[in-house]
Amino acid sequence: MILNDATIKEITTRMERYPSRKSAILPALTYAYRQVGHLDAPVYKELSKIIDIPYVEIAEAASFYTMFPKKEVGRYLIQVCHNISCSLRGADNMLIYMQEKLGIKMGETTPDNLFTLISVECLGGCSAAPMMQVNQTFYEDLTREKIDKILADLSAEAEKDGK
Ligand code: FES
Repeated sequence: MILNDATIKEITTRMERYPSRKSAILPALTYAYRQVGHLDAPVYKELSKIIDIPYVEIAEAASFYTMFPKKEVGRYLIQVCHNISCSLRGADNMLIYMQEKLGIKMGETTPDNLFTLISVECLGGCSAAPMMQVNQTFYEDLTREKIDKILADLSAEAEKDGK
């Protein structure tokens, strides 16, 4: 089993709120993602059993939501918005800077497995462009200095946790 007891309990508790099991798919994907860090076929299989919904419906729903990574990622998944508002306010430069700083290209993970860098469509934080999301946290009005601090803080946090 990949999903632990706590995640399964969250999913089954949430299922009780809905008249249709299908309505629990998105929350179930979210809980699974929070525990595992990505979603893939083995996770879909377990969710299919827990929710009692065909595997293909779980996989279809997951494929629609790009915010769920479909393969293993680093401890910190950095999603930099490259949509119109962020692009107009320098997102491309931020992306180039982060690739240089982390020593990886878009879609790659640092060798220490700490950071995965991807670019994404609008995250809904346009008024504070350019912005990015790291795991569940938004970082807005990005500058090179802010990026330096964010990455340093995250690295320190990981080191503190012994990872
Ligand atoms: S365009 Fe970047 S958050 Fe909307």
